[in-house]
Amino acid sequence: MTFMKVGIDLLHFATSDYFLGLDTFAKEKGTDVNKYFVGIGQEKMSIAPPDEDVVTLSAKATTPILEQIDKNEITAILFATETAVDQSKSAGVFLHGLLGLSKHCRVIELKHACYAGAAGLQMATSMVRANPKEKILVIAADIARYDVDTSGEATQGCGAVAMLITESPRVIEIEPGSGYFTDDVMDFWRPNHRSTALVDGKYSTKVYLNSLKEAWSHFQQQTGKVFEDIDYFCYHIPFTKMAEKAHKTLVKKVGKKFSEEQHDTQTLPSQLYNRIVGNSYSASLFVGFISLLDHVQPSLENKRVSFFSYGSGCVAEFFTGIIQKGYEKVLMTQSHKQQIEQRQELDYPTYLKFYHQTDYSLENLELPKINKGKFRLSAIENYKRIYTANNS
Ligand code: HMG
Repeated sequence: MTFMKVGIDLLHFATSDYFLGLDTFAKEKGTDVNKYFVGIGQEKMSIAPPDEDVVTLSAKATTPILEQIDKNEITAILFATETAVDQSKSAGVFLHGLLGLSKHCRVIELKHACYAGAAGLQMATSMVRANPKEKILVIAADIARYDVDTSGEATQGCGAVAMLITESPRVIEIEPGSGYFTDDVMDFWRPNHRSTALVDGKYSTKVYLNSLKEAWSHFQQQTGKVFEDIDYFCYHIPFTKMAEKAHKTLVKKVGKKFSEEQHDTQTLPSQLYNRIVGNSYSASLFVGFISLLDHVQPSLENKRVSFFSYGSGCVAEFFTGIIQKGYEKVLMTQSHKQQIEQRQELDYPTYLKFYHQTDYSLENLELPKINKGKFRLSAIENYKRIYTANNS
């Protein structure tokens, strides 16, 4: 049976304009900096100011895509996040309004921890296979926030990835068939009343690796593909050392012996952005994929890339795609690198003020103008979020 090619036609990543260095963090906590630089493999965390949320981050991620297409052709937004801004209204509808998309467009929010972005991508590819006229925006956007002085604090970060899913995609065809795994566990969770996540950190790393083994076995049963069929491996990256451990676990499971060089070739390029952005939950796997696309030379044309999505709680999926001929022409590498390089460094007290001291549950709130993106969250009025364009 031949399938129509469906996958990611364009994709772009955005993060906040500020970061906290883990060297500054280590000094503040009185910890050896190598615990972060080497032990968990992280150098910097993108920190959202109080007037940045998943709506403004996703607007920043999506705008460069809309500049290249007829935005009226977007038929649906699947918005994946675990940093929802409302218990009822989808963050995607705020985004739809800010970007002025067609009214003939469906919008829905998807949630399961870091897994929802992959779920959105798989749902969108099925929708396009069923109706090739569909052009679907999948957004994965999150702000990872843990309590101060907890084990998770060093693994915060934020980001949004926007992906346009179409037939005859220019970047990657997502191949039919995947392996998946669900288990009702409490490794990481965020009760409705809390703005920060709770985590059983060490346990969560074990559940992640077990889910990888289970999803991989199911993937093999479902698709018949073997380890050697895959050229590059992208993992969900809460911190880069986790992706390292994941790849070693998979190599061991398939009974391979690998040199450091082979290991690095297959996984390292997908970790470069995440190392200096931090965890962006649902977006993190796709930030990793963008990092791979932006860093591997020579061309990735016709290479098979695997994706392992893990969402605590837990749901996991393993799937693959084939990089398309000429994909380099539509990458937005310059924009990604510029944003990351232009971020402003924060001192520890300013990080605390930005990340941990705003009460969004208030009926009315004015927010200082700090976010430099196209749109900002300017206020909350009668419990309604007010977004404004930064030039207005
Ligand atoms: P911790 O207690 O802060 O750190 O927790 P540690 O003492 O375990 O040290 C970490 C590593 O650094 C260890 O290496 C140390 O040996 C090493 P490992 O044993 O793991 O190989 N180390 C050093 N290395 C060099 N020089 C030094 C040094 N000191 C120590 N001086 C933990 C670490 C990951 C638990 C913590 O960061 C945490 O709780 N993070 C949040 C949870 C998390 O990210 N879990 C990952 C799996 S779950 C997931 O990915 C889902 C998630 O994204 C959420 C979602 O799905 O929505 C989180």
